[in-house]
Amino acid sequence: MTTQIPTSKPAGLPDGLPDVAQLANLANAFFSALPGQQPGSLPPAASGLNLDVAGPQLSPQPAAAAAHTPEPAALDGFGRGGPHAYAVPQGYGAAIPQLAAAQPSAPSLAGSAVPSSPYYFIGESSAYPSAAPDVAVDDRVTAQSFGLPGADELRALLAGDSRQPVVATPAQGNSHGYYFVEEWPQHGKAPDFDRKVASRGHGFDVNAVRRDFPILAERVNGKPLIWLDNAATTHKPQAVIDRLAYFYQHENSNIHRAAHELAARATDAYEAARNKVARFIGSPSPDQVIFVRGATEAINLVANTWGRQNIGAGDEIVVSQLEHHANIVPWQMLAAASGAKIRVIPVDDSGQILLDEYRKLLNSRTRLVAITQVSNALGTVTPVQEIVALAHAAGARVLVDGAQSVSHMRVNVQALDADFFVFSGHKVFAPTGIGVVYGKQELLDSMPPWQGGGNMIADVTFEKTLYQPAPNKFEAGTGNIADAVGLGAAIDYVERIGLEAIAHYEHDLLVYATHGLQSVPGLRLVGTAANKASVLSFVLPGYRTEEVGKALNQEGIAVRSGHHCAQPILRRFGLEATVRPSLAFYNTCEEVDTLVAVLQRLARRR
Ligand code: ALA
Repeated sequence: MTTQIPTSKPAGLPDGLPDVAQLANLANAFFSALPGQQPGSLPPAASGLNLDVAGPQLSPQPAAAAAHTPEPAALDGFGRGGPHAYAVPQGYGAAIPQLAAAQPSAPSLAGSAVPSSPYYFIGESSAYPSAAPDVAVDDRVTAQSFGLPGADELRALLAGDSRQPVVATPAQGNSHGYYFVEEWPQHGKAPDFDRKVASRGHGFDVNAVRRDFPILAERVNGKPLIWLDNAATTHKPQAVIDRLAYFYQHENSNIHRAAHELAARATDAYEAARNKVARFIGSPSPDQVIFVRGATEAINLVANTWGRQNIGAGDEIVVSQLEHHANIVPWQMLAAASGAKIRVIPVDDSGQILLDEYRKLLNSRTRLVAITQVSNALGTVTPVQEIVALAHAAGARVLVDGAQSVSHMRVNVQALDADFFVFSGHKVFAPTGIGVVYGKQELLDSMPPWQGGGNMIADVTFEKTLYQPAPNKFEAGTGNIADAVGLGAAIDYVERIGLEAIAHYEHDLLVYATHGLQSVPGLRLVGTAANKASVLSFVLPGYRTEEVGKALNQEGIAVRSGHHCAQPILRRFGLEATVRPSLAFYNTCEEVDTLVAVLQRLARRR
């Protein structure tokens, strides 16, 4: 609404300024408008000011937003001045101009249209389709039990059968077209493997991807950094770093409340990130995506809301031996408070869940199964679909911990039929301090809030408070707005490369690295399940794990050594600590070669 500045003014005021009373009237009218109310409802007393009033609505209209769209000439696709060569041929770099030109609107999610962003970050309305809800069921999840490509070759390799050529079968239930036909070398590591990896069409060029991650150019102890601590945290592509900077430079504001331009920008960016997360994990609606600090806070939220409401004395909570402390301790605390019992699914000597033992644990008292999709300590990919189906048949709910899975495989919460799914942003190339709880709508609707405060209320009187529906009900106070936006950018990044391409490449790299570590005399791999992702835990006789970690650090190689916040599973293997290299899609065969060479040197010195 455009109104005119009054021409008459009290004596003494500079030309062109309305008087104080008029400003006060205008402000009162403006801020007393209800959320979503259009500026047309401003009273006549407010007219006369030359103001393009967007109103206190949550999402600005595209026309208004165009006013703050940066000039394309001034900025590249990600808000930085000057040219910059991102070089992921089929991915990120190549996608920018096309996306920028096309300004695609996001695919709509069932029950909620994704607003197209009026802002320059065209990624807010990603062109990348959701896995849900219109894809074939088979295509939704690569994390099915025994569904990763090449399981047979990995099994043979871990069983010490690497001298036999292995012809892998296509992954079950996987329609991505993986079909590994691999002849394993007769001895040691395959010298030409890297060339094969580079030339067999994983869909991206790893060396080009590496240039998107500035920290990978660091040197440590005079050596190029080799980052093999991805299970602890991942590095951030320039696109994420730039997105954060752009947020603070152009959008920074609190969200939802203030009726001004930057609040609208910040709100729009934050909600766009929620839409991206929903698409990324196949949530039917962004309203089922709650932002929290990370997977730990996510699990604590569920334990303290749904858990307190639904778990009582004599009830049982099933976890597996593989769990991270974050998926054990909150349930123990709940059990201690409620009188419930914890029951534990054992694993076999490879570190895989014993499904038959799991079946025996389920009964009418089982209320919840809390299970990791990928073990952070061993890398085991658990048969989570079967675990969920069996739990549901027993009338129990399931929380799936996706902290170690979302960066390595396509996840679809609907195909998994997970009741809750949680993950941390920082393990999927996003900033620290941001994570997600997904929940089924009926559960979120029935759950009480956890923390109380601003943002999560509909109305407050001293007698009674009414809450917002999810997700706001669970997001009290000012959240981590910028890092949520950063998570959205990280999701854009991995989706541009493609989760299927990432899973394919990482699978080959894991097989290569497994093979390399097996060539180190005496080295004991801990976690040898046929279905694994990313992680290679080991011990080297004659050395404490921290000594190995230190020796690797001397060579610029970062791994985690210790208990990995998963003491029960290490103790299952008679250990208190392991050395744990963990891979991401920016790691290379050369890096693995360097790791193996250092370990071989250590082994020889023993
Ligand atoms: N959960 C993280 C790890 O596995 C910190 O290292």
